[in-house]
Amino acid sequence: EVETHIEDYAFSFEGPFGSFDQMQLQRGLQVYTEICSACHGLELIAFRTLHDEGGPGLPEDQVRAYAEFYEVFDETLFDGEGDFRPATPADHFPASSLSNAPDLSLMAKARAGFHGPYGTGINQFVKGMGGAEYIASLLTGYADEPECALEGEPMDGYYNVAFAAGGFHENCKDENGKHKVPGSWISMAPPLYGDDVEYADGHSTDLEHVAEDVSAFLMWTAEPKLVARKQAGLTGVIFLTVLSVLLYLTNKRLWAPHK
Ligand code: HEM
Repeated sequence: EVETHIEDYAFSFEGPFGSFDQMQLQRGLQVYTEICSACHGLELIAFRTLHDEGGPGLPEDQVRAYAEFYEVFDETLFDGEGDFRPATPADHFPASSLSNAPDLSLMAKARAGFHGPYGTGINQFVKGMGGAEYIASLLTGYADEPECALEGEPMDGYYNVAFAAGGFHENCKDENGKHKVPGSWISMAPPLYGDDVEYADGHSTDLEHVAEDVSAFLMWTAEPKLVARKQAGLTGVIFLTVLSVLLYLTNKRLWAPHK
């Protein structure tokens, strides 16, 4: 088991009453567009959903203008030979343009930030699954190579304290093969340094904030109905509570003559 450092960020969509912060989703979309989309796709996401209430909530004309930045291959054009045309809101984001960069549509659900202790799931019960925390921690998790890695064969990739699945330097293992430092080596170069974008709403562009914004956006792409699901759950709990009280009183009343 590889130890990693995952920061427990306080996202607006956490907890039973949490919801997405529309401005944050718009900033996150900007970060994805200007930086991540160079390599990563979002092939499961239709442009039209950027208009969704509870999501980024872009006005329809902005969604149309945004989609037109992308080109899609349309098989129906040119008598069935197909041709490229500007995307419309009905089209999806493109797939990853770099073959070893995974699609990010569902990444926030494919990874968990919190585990354990010892397979009990208590950390996830208390802190949530932590998919968005994982992504934010990955983006801020690049660090100088540890001392132990400076001798021997140099590693491919970049040392990252949040990444578990990468290569690991032999010199950084003890005699039992246990890792002496957290994380592993990832092939993605650090994509963010802070001040990578310019926000129209004046929000801070510190590394942590930019990382948080794009992670919140990727939580939305992975779970666009999160807020509706929470509301339905809450309605259900209130309904069942009222029903329990009524059933209790009914029960008392029915049995009163026989006691
Ligand atoms: C992997 C996010 C920018 C190339 C990943 C992973 C995430 C991610 C969540 C998966 C890590 C895992 O498997 O647990 C992002 C975000 C970006 C960004 C949010 C923008 C802020 C880029 C850019 C490139 C890139 C610009 C190319 C220059 C890769 C590659 C991998 C990867 C090659 C696979 C790494 C490996 O498995 O070793 N990225 N990325 N990413 N990304 Fe990015």
